[in-house]
Amino acid sequence: MKHLISAGDLGRDDALLILDTAEELARVSERSIKKLPTLRGRTVVNLFFEDSTRTRISFEAAAKRLSADVINFSAKGSSVSKGESLKDTALTLEAMGADAVVIRHSASGAPHRLANWVRGSVVNAGDGTHEHPTQALLDAFSMRRRLGRLEGLKVAVVGDILHSRVARSNVLLLASLGAEVTLVAPPTLLPVAVENWPCLVSYDLDAVLPKSDVVMMLRVQLERQNAAFFPSAREYSRRYGLDRDRFAKLHDDAIVMHPGPMNRGMEISAEVADSPRSTIVEQVANGVTVRMAVLYLLLGGAIGGEVQ
Ligand code: CP
Repeated sequence: MKHLISAGDLGRDDALLILDTAEELARVSERSIKKLPTLRGRTVVNLFFEDSTRTRISFEAAAKRLSADVINFSAKGSSVSKGESLKDTALTLEAMGADAVVIRHSASGAPHRLANWVRGSVVNAGDGTHEHPTQALLDAFSMRRRLGRLEGLKVAVVGDILHSRVARSNVLLLASLGAEVTLVAPPTLLPVAVENWPCLVSYDLDAVLPKSDVVMMLRVQLERQNAAFFPSAREYSRRYGLDRDRFAKLHDDAIVMHPGPMNRGMEISAEVADSPRSTIVEQVANGVTVRMAVLYLLLGGAIGGEVQ
C-alpha cells in the first residue's frame, strides 16, 4: 500500500492491520517517553488547503512521535494566494524531499491528482465532500475499543450525509469490517444514488435509535450548503438532533460519536456530547495513534514486525 486516498481501497486485512498496529502503538503512547525512532530521517509534509484543528494537529503529533521531520503548510499565507497551482505547490514541497504528503483540500479528487505528481506517499486528510479515510479508521478503532468488536455492530450515521466525506469513508470501511451501517437524514441531505452504497437508509431517527450500538452524529456543514436543505435550524434539530430524550431511547451500552467540530445545540445537545457514553474526546486521542499506524505502515516501518 503506497497511498491512502479512499477507505474503499482498504481490504478487510489492510484495515485490520492498521487497527491492530494502532493498538500496539497506543501501548507505546502510554509510556512516559512516547517517541519512537521508526521514521527518523523521513519527512512528512502536512499540506492543508482547508481549515482543520483535529486532523492537522494529530498528523503532526503522529509524525513527530515517530521521529519524522514535519513541514506544516497552510494555504493561508502561502503563494497559493498569488495563484500558485496545487501541482506547483506540490512540486515545490517535493523538491524539499517529502516522503509523505498529507493533504486536505476543498476539491474532491485533489489527493488522487497529487499522487500522480509526487514520488512520496499521499494520505487523504479530507477532500471536499468525497472522503476522509483516517477519520473512518479512528472511528472504527474507537468503536472496537469501547465495544470490543466491529463485526455485526449496528451503526447509525446521522445528519448531513450529502456534504459528508466522513459518512462515505465510514460506510466503505465499516462495510468491509462487517458492521451494518444505517444512514439517517432528511431526503434533501442524502446523496444521489445512495441506494448503491453498501448500507441501509432511513429518514426516521426515532425508529433507528433503539436498534443502534453506535450513533454517529454529523455536523450540518452550513459552509458547503448553497441552498435551503431544511426549513430552519430549529426544525432540523427537532427531527434529527440528538438531545436528552432521544438519547434515552438508546440501549444501555450504546455509544455516541461525532467527528467534530460540533454544532452544539443543533445536531447534538451539550449534555449528550459531554456524557460518559460519548467518545468524542477519545476519538481525538485515538486519531493520533491511528495516524501513527498509517504513517508507519505507508513509510515502510516493519509491517508485521515488532514495534520497538
Ligand atoms: N474531524 C475532523 O476532520 O476535524 P478537523 O476538521 O478539525 O480536522
